[in-house]
Amino acid sequence: MAVMADFCPGLDIQVVDVDQKRIDAWNNLEAECLPVYEPGLQEVLDRVRGRNLSFSTDVATAIQRADMVFLTVNTPTKHRGHGAGAAADLTFVEQAARQIATSACGSTIVVERSTLPVRTADVLRKILSQGCGNHFEILSNPEFMAEGTAIDDLCNPDRVLVGGACGQAVAELTGIYANWVHPSRIITTNLWSAELAKLTANAFLAQRISSINSIAGLCEASGADVEEVSHAIGSDRRIGSEFLRPGPGFGGSCFRKDILNLIYLADHYGLYEVASYWRAVLELNAWSQRRISQMIVQALFGTLRDKRIAVLGFAFKADTNDTRESPAIAICRDLLHDGATLRIHDPRVSFADMEALLVVDADGVPTAGWFERAESVFSACDDADAVLILTDWAQYRELDWAALASRMRRPAWVFDARRGTNLAEAEAHGLETWQIGRGGPH
Ligand code: UGA
Repeated sequence: MAVMADFCPGLDIQVVDVDQKRIDAWNNLEAECLPVYEPGLQEVLDRVRGRNLSFSTDVATAIQRADMVFLTVNTPTKHRGHGAGAAADLTFVEQAARQIATSACGSTIVVERSTLPVRTADVLRKILSQGCGNHFEILSNPEFMAEGTAIDDLCNPDRVLVGGACGQAVAELTGIYANWVHPSRIITTNLWSAELAKLTANAFLAQRISSINSIAGLCEASGADVEEVSHAIGSDRRIGSEFLRPGPGFGGSCFRKDILNLIYLADHYGLYEVASYWRAVLELNAWSQRRISQMIVQALFGTLRDKRIAVLGFAFKADTNDTRESPAIAICRDLLHDGATLRIHDPRVSFADMEALLVVDADGVPTAGWFERAESVFSACDDADAVLILTDWAQYRELDWAALASRMRRPAWVFDARRGTNLAEAEAHGLETWQIGRGGPH
């Protein structure tokens, strides 16, 4: 919304939330106090906050005054009841829709921004139609930005997608985007296509990562190099070069949730083969994480008791403090279960966030071992038996391996799960190395 306010000074945008703390954080003028870390966000906010963008908890008044309401509530995966573990939990969507039904005035366009299961607009329509005689139009305008590059993605989007049945409502929303997006990049579709396109886009992106991770495993076993393979296939225009970087598996709040949603949808329509096809993408992602912890245990002589491991990176990717579904979680839990001592460095993730995710595993079983947050890469490596790189932060690309190696206990290892460091230098200083997708001599 901040980017929209920036490009459209004529619009008055109010962001509302029932959570007072969250709203206070967005109103806090001090830099570095925003609830999320996103490069470039602070600068945009400095321009628009108090000009044509405001934050408040007065949800009812904001809806009453609005011509257009953007619905951006969270839709986590259901944990309990029917569809648990796959279906999206629409509680917040429903609550918001009920509030819109009672507070809206006159004619209101309701825009779905959250990633929603296909045909959620039906749910919205049913609830909104209970409102007292107001007229509602529903549009689907899914979000395609990625964390860490969100501001640039929003300023220069590959495309903007607007789905809806009412030509005038669609024209009003596309008219807003036309302030900064070329018309050729604004795609209009029907509601269901827009909803399904968002799930499909994420599923296809996640599928590419699982595909390249499967090939990374094959490269290690066969002596090929995944970077060379990626480059070779990515040069084919039909495949393209993006999203072919191997790693410890995909994380983030979207891919897993959206694929689960797709699986649920396929099962619901009796398309069981389709469901199991997408399930395999998730299974491969779990394998991508599991195999790393297993390989480390094997390399460190079969046990991690009394072994210290420096973990570099805990966020699910660089340039964000988000740890949701981060591959680091499952890998660190596995290492802790084996008795390891972990010193975890991440420039943006707090100890509290690490602690909340590592004290118990996914089944609620307390982890063994011990962990702490390291203030620097150097302190993480003190007396360490191994360094494990899990997030692609730029600062890990050029590490001072001479200095780090001298602090480690020999024999010492570097496990690079991101191809994110100068490994030849680590080898030059006597460290054993493993890099994802790099086959040894055969
Ligand atoms: C993803 C999509 O990329 C966005 O288009 C979408 O709008 C967003 O979800 C959403 O639904 O809100 P995001 O989860 O923020 O964005 O981050 P990505 O850049 O897609 O990365 C996801 C995961 O894949 C990360 O763990 C990343 O490290 C991993 N990844 C990505 C790889 O392992 N290899 C790659 O080549 C690319």
